[in-house]
Amino acid sequence: MSFSGLDPDRIPCHVACVMDGNGRWAEQRGLKRTDGHAAGEEALFDTAEGALELGIQWLTVYAFSTENWRRPADEVKFLMWFNQSLLERRRDELNDMGVRIRFIGRRDWRVPKRLLRCMDESVELTRDNKRMTLTIAFNYGGRAEIVDAVKALVADGVAPNKVTEKAIARRLYDPDMPEPDLMVRTSGEFRTSNFLLWEMAYSELVFSDTLWPDFRRQHLRDAVIEFQNRTRRFGGLSS
Ligand code: FPP
Repeated sequence: MSFSGLDPDRIPCHVACVMDGNGRWAEQRGLKRTDGHAAGEEALFDTAEGALELGIQWLTVYAFSTENWRRPADEVKFLMWFNQSLLERRRDELNDMGVRIRFIGRRDWRVPKRLLRCMDESVELTRDNKRMTLTIAFNYGGRAEIVDAVKALVADGVAPNKVTEKAIARRLYDPDMPEPDLMVRTSGEFRTSNFLLWEMAYSELVFSDTLWPDFRRQHLRDAVIEFQNRTRRFGGLSS
């Protein structure tokens, strides 16, 4: 991939992606919505390879939200099966690429036991990899994550005067995960849809018209260029 137009010293550390538009991509081609999700696999791997080339250290993707249970039962079933199949087929490859796989989200009874087992095995297999962390947000909701952090605070007996932003951040699903510098959403929708609500307080948001199955490393590169053209102030004044 070409680095022209990119400042190698200002590569975002953490990029989060809302992989939206699979259903529309499929419908445009007279295919089933689930074919669109299947076509999203290549987009995910090309994006992950592009992220590795750019030196992005954390890539987080929204694979299934706490709201996605409202979809038709067949589509939900497909997404459960597809995530498991993708991990089984491709975790060795991700491991060879030096990618550490992690998950954020609720491990509730609706997620099949064998998928949870497969997720745990994938995390274990790749736990020592250092090139990049691929975090898969699965049965994830930003509000649910904050609720779960508050539950943990209460369970830990934290007194009201000890409830700080740090105390909450330490109880999020992955306290090691840095906040995203850049969030990319595909398919021309301008929403965050309950993704990383706490963590994205100061993320730069980039929206792409490309439907997720057509998204490739050059689109990621374009998003990083747009990110580099922004001035981040974090509520202060730019220096
Ligand atoms: C949103 O498109 C996409 C999803 C709900 C699922 C995303 C899942 C994948 C790309 C599968 C591969 C990923 C992993 C990590 C296993 P949509 O269905 O909302 O599209 P639409 O807005 O056009 O209907």
